[in-house]
Amino acid sequence: MLPSLYIALDAPDKEAALALAKQCQGLPLGFKVGMELFYGEGMPIVRNLQALSDYPVFVDLKLHDIPVTVERAAANLVRQGVRFFNIHAQGGPVMMEAAKNGAIEALPATDSEDSLTILAVTLLTSLSAHDVNQHLQANVSPNDYVAHLAKASQAAGLNGVVCSAKEATVVRDACGEGFLKITPGIRLPENIVGDQQRVMTPEKAIHAGATTLVVGRPITQAANPCVAAQTFCAAVASASCAAPTKAGA
Ligand code: C5P
Repeated sequence: MLPSLYIALDAPDKEAALALAKQCQGLPLGFKVGMELFYGEGMPIVRNLQALSDYPVFVDLKLHDIPVTVERAAANLVRQGVRFFNIHAQGGPVMMEAAKNGAIEALPATDSEDSLTILAVTLLTSLSAHDVNQHLQANVSPNDYVAHLAKASQAAGLNGVVCSAKEATVVRDACGEGFLKITPGIRLPENIVGDQQRVMTPEKAIHAGATTLVVGRPITQAANPCVAAQTFCAAVASASCAAPTKAGA
């Protein structure tokens, strides 16, 4: 079971990432390693963070290539101990199935398929409805675009999607409660939005059906990251207690 909060450790190097992680160690949250940190530090930082956490480190590399390449990349991640990673739903159903197959084949005999969490990124939270229409040339709303890719991800056997909290409800309606909705673009009212477009507060995200929130800069750039992380943990915990579940979903 994943925690309700992952910190995006978008730090320039392992020293900065580990310092942040150690400040938040012991809180009910996981650590996410994205491209900036992974391409700088590689697998050792994933292993370092794994040692600091009770939860799987989320390796957010958004694999997106032809199916055979993604299959082999996924297998290599799993061979090196990664159990939680993501790919891009826009790579298509064959690519998504290939990623899952590669990951399963690379598991050691001691680990079951259940040890894997593979997510598909639907639509980056930095893209707006205008971008969907003008750049992607998709004549649909972000809701419909994300719901379509979520259903395709579920059909490919993935565990859930990365989407904006604004689409969590449509994904829940399309794919059910058990399908993970991991949502970046989370901000408190006082936080700077930055380059994100489709943002929500933690409370609203949980009420909308998000299963795990991803928070980066509002924690990592805070004057006191530990206090900021505690604030997000408390917001998530109280919203989770109050969140309605959809009967029969
Ligand atoms: O700093 P901030 O809270 O905006 O960080 C969000 C994190 O989530 C970043 O690491 C970003 O790469 C990641 N992410 C995202 N939108 C997606 C998928 C991942 O913002 N759709």
